[in-house]
Amino acid sequence: MIVRGGTVVQGNEMVRADLRIRAGKIAEIAPALLPEGEEEVLDCTGLSVMPGLIDLHVHLREPGFERKEDIASGAAAAVKGGFTQICCMPNTKPVIDNKVVVTYIKARAKEVGLCKIHPIGAITEGQEGKTLSAIGAMKQAGAVALSEDGKSVASAGLMANAMMYAADFGLKCLCHCEDASLVDGGVVHEGYYATLTGLKGSIRAAEDIMIAREICLAESLGLPVHICHVSTYSGVQLIREAKARGVKVTAETCPHYFTLTDAAIRDFDPMTKVNPPLREERDRLAIIEGLKDGTIDCIVSDHAPHHADEKNVEYNFAAFGISGLETSFALSNTVLVKTGALDLCGLVRRMSTNPAGILSLAGGEIAVGAAADLAVADPDEAWTVDPEAFVSKGKNTPFAGQTVYGKIKYTIVDGEIKYREGGK
Ligand code: DOR
Repeated sequence: MIVRGGTVVQGNEMVRADLRIRAGKIAEIAPALLPEGEEEVLDCTGLSVMPGLIDLHVHLREPGFERKEDIASGAAAAVKGGFTQICCMPNTKPVIDNKVVVTYIKARAKEVGLCKIHPIGAITEGQEGKTLSAIGAMKQAGAVALSEDGKSVASAGLMANAMMYAADFGLKCLCHCEDASLVDGGVVHEGYYATLTGLKGSIRAAEDIMIAREICLAESLGLPVHICHVSTYSGVQLIREAKARGVKVTAETCPHYFTLTDAAIRDFDPMTKVNPPLREERDRLAIIEGLKDGTIDCIVSDHAPHHADEKNVEYNFAAFGISGLETSFALSNTVLVKTGALDLCGLVRRMSTNPAGILSLAGGEIAVGAAADLAVADPDEAWTVDPEAFVSKGKNTPFAGQTVYGKIKYTIVDGEIKYREGGK
């Protein structure tokens, strides 16, 4: 196939070039390529050709919670969002804490055949915080990282052991940072809007203390650690300072933390309930600053689909989470690129190149010899978020009705078109 007429995002440059794809790989990059033999031509005139996006933090819910999402619907949402590789979190039922579940997910992902799916194993058995899970066996079966997802490992001693074992097997721990005793049933950020609504708040320190602890462990042990979904200005500062003194810490944030603030909770809309909670303008601006200066390495969706019955209830009873795969690129492009905070190359680095680097996944760049994993988008096209049009089973989004910029037109995985806008 020839991908013709697009603007190719290559590192820091946008280059007008055609791509020749052969046997699933990029065979040639040149200003004007002619089809040979039976080669198909994909007209991408006026479009941006980006390396396939990579999301390190996705909940696919299978096995166990298929009413919320399954591997087929989650993978369909991924390719619709421009993602060619996603990593799925272990809070399934059974928990991904052994090689059998890892093997099952890899097999299902292959059957579904849409994007590359990499399982993340739980740090402890059953995510119970007591005994380390079968780390080596999970790595052998194909797990790409470890995470306690949705909570922190309460014991610092156990977490230190986990980091050492993980490192022995070439894995990193991705840390959800939350001190449960400080959250103490809080459902929103502790601030003006918590007071206004009467909803129970949770202070920044609940997140920051655990970010600091994981940084201290990484520093003392000389091992890498990755901080999940950073939402506080103070967390950004802890990571910035740690990086400056050479700690091997990387970090992610999600579109909702740089697009929304806790003002969104004022109407008690359960779609705004997410963990960690939406914070204040000061935090939102610090997250953008952190993304700009490289303190925060990457953007993930924290795709957390839920069934309508779990969201259309009183705020206190609603599930935490946002269905994010289908809006992640457009929200990021709208709030970061259209405002000039980043250019498109910078966004691609944070949504593809850096995520690949953090977990040593092949991908994240357009180069001769690399897998032909591509996301082709019109970065200027405006569209309105309509949850009913989501292919994810999770229609839970606080962005319904919002106009965003950036439309994925094609997603190509190993040289095969896995998503075409409108199915054309
Ligand atoms: O909002 C969230 N939802 N945060 C998490 O950490 C977990 C996730 C989920 O699994 O629903």
